[in-house]
Amino acid sequence: MNTPVETPTVTPYGTLPGHATSVRRPVSLPRLREMRARGEKITMLTAYDATFAAVADAAGVECILVGDSLGMVCQGLASTVGVSLETMRYHVESVSRGLLRAQGTAWLVGDLPFGTYHESREQALRSAAVLMQAGAHMVKLEGGGWTAETVEFLVTRGIPVCAHLGLTPQTVHSLGGYRVQGKSEEAAATLKQQAHALQDAGAALLVLEMVPAALAAELTQELQHCATVGIGAGRDTAGQVLVLHDMLGLNLGKMPKFVRNFMTGAPGVKEAMQAYVAAVKDGSFPDNTLHAW
Ligand code: KIV
Repeated sequence: MNTPVETPTVTPYGTLPGHATSVRRPVSLPRLREMRARGEKITMLTAYDATFAAVADAAGVECILVGDSLGMVCQGLASTVGVSLETMRYHVESVSRGLLRAQGTAWLVGDLPFGTYHESREQALRSAAVLMQAGAHMVKLEGGGWTAETVEFLVTRGIPVCAHLGLTPQTVHSLGGYRVQGKSEEAAATLKQQAHALQDAGAALLVLEMVPAALAAELTQELQHCATVGIGAGRDTAGQVLVLHDMLGLNLGKMPKFVRNFMTGAPGVKEAMQAYVAAVKDGSFPDNTLHAW
């Protein structure tokens, strides 16, 4: 008897559900922990819509962050402060749909925007639920100190959390601009104490943005239960993250010096993303000599 052969329906987003050809294992918290434990670098990239998310997934990016950087790169805002929860919900939902249609395996992280988790732990839970119901697998929130209590509240209620220390763009006005954090001994000690508190609260990932490479390396060694993901923090973190537009050379302002334009020499966007994944995995990106802070 002949066994019917299913012909996969290939769309611009990949193969449609019901015609599975992918055997890739979905990225999950245990898988991210395994990667951290065996020293395989975790790759994260921002994406804000269905198509770029599906392409990033197909290029092998493990974590897709719907960052509130969308306020700047999609909405033309001067900072991330004006991004609303409804805007984040819309983009998380778009990315989630794109991944589902492409049978993607990436881990989807949604940023909690400014003012949606600051008031109370209950407010944070309500905001996180909006993003989780839109398809996020994890939420990200910025800051140390008081946030540890919020992280614990969310984690104990089944919401995986990615913390974010160093340059925290939502507090850019308090920080006095987009500058390197944790440079003085005192600032480094505070950042370390906050990172440990966030790990103890249950944060599974920790974005370290614009901190000295040596400090990020030390923290990566110390935090055994929380994988560090660096951006402008040197190469010795458990993973790396970049803003999509930056790595595609589409930054309209001043390109941060730690960014590499992966479109250089790449025939297309997918190849540029593949080059990013390969460079993070083999340790050739980022280049520590560009992180002299
Ligand atoms: O919003 C964002 O894109 C981020 C990354 C810079 C980590 O938080």
